[in-house]
Amino acid sequence: MKKLGLLTGGGDAPGLNAVIRAVVKTAPNYDFEILGIRDGFDGLLDPAGIIPLESESVRGILPQGGTILGTANRGNPFAREVEIDGQMQIIDISDQVVARAKELGLVGIIVVGGDGTLHISQELNEKGCLTVGVPKTIDNDIGGTDVSFGFDTAINTAMEALDRLHTTAESHHRVMLLELMGRDAGFISLHAGLAGGADVILIPEIPFRYDAICEKIVHRAEAGRHFSIVAAAEGAHPAGGERVFAELGDELHVDRLGGIGNVVARYVEQACQMETRVTVLGHLQRGGSPTAFDRWLCTRLGGEAVRLAASGSWGRMSALMGGTVGSVEMAEALAVPKRVNVEGDAVQTAREMGISFGD
Ligand code: F6P
Repeated sequence: MKKLGLLTGGGDAPGLNAVIRAVVKTAPNYDFEILGIRDGFDGLLDPAGIIPLESESVRGILPQGGTILGTANRGNPFAREVEIDGQMQIIDISDQVVARAKELGLVGIIVVGGDGTLHISQELNEKGCLTVGVPKTIDNDIGGTDVSFGFDTAINTAMEALDRLHTTAESHHRVMLLELMGRDAGFISLHAGLAGGADVILIPEIPFRYDAICEKIVHRAEAGRHFSIVAAAEGAHPAGGERVFAELGDELHVDRLGGIGNVVARYVEQACQMETRVTVLGHLQRGGSPTAFDRWLCTRLGGEAVRLAASGSWGRMSALMGGTVGSVEMAEALAVPKRVNVEGDAVQTAREMGISFGD
């Protein structure tokens, strides 16, 4: 049996365990045994970081959120913070990772991750630590695949939140604003906003004007609908204005978006003279059991990743393309991040139905 590594990296997303299960169960068909690597790439530098995975290890995990392997947001081996002579320094320890993979006898590693993790995986692949990727992120911002896994579960959670906000908004004649994740992509807000009947959808791809948001809300109130629902992506920003951050990053940590909901709500409350409340859905979008669609997608993407490894198609990523699972070059998939097509039919239909994008 050849040894194939498997790791999950970056922020978690519903469906990681479904991928792990698919990989482990598919592997014996191609004479692979799977070595699970704990906590992203960190597990390759930890003597206790390797767990052999067999069918029995993945029993019952299909519906579980999270990842049995653990994950790490800050585990980039090309920029690792270490203490040297009492001082924190950032150094490249990727050679150690490559050496450890060789020492373990891995023919390659299946890396399940979002753009950050897949970039690392691609660089490691170029250094000779062979990898294939599986696209994970609730943000759905990875190119080369119609959709990344985790997204469907996240939009269902967001849709349910919008449904719940509707009833309380109507009872209290309030504006309810739901701030959603997605970084610089508006897919979560657009899809959940459409599915959950939002009146205003704010996405990073369409910079908004405060007065246009108010126009819509006031127009509804004048027409007798004394409540409104706003779905706002965390990366949404006013035209000519800045995004709002919960925390600024540094060399090691990315900036954390968050707070635009409150900024918009304060404006709306004053300008529209309507009570306005904000709900930040946050990490609830990343937790919980994956939907049927995500389980179906994860299972297929995981199976394809094993076949890519078996055929020596390193540097590729499994992907859903027009309903069929196949693969793309990781470099090609990562070259341009995916964003909402503002000229596409979803945005057009939303506009034609009277949904405001605040522009
Ligand atoms: O990329 C997934 C994501 O959930 C984004 O939507 C969000 O901006 C970010 O991760 C939050 O990251 P953290 O887990 O570090 O708070």
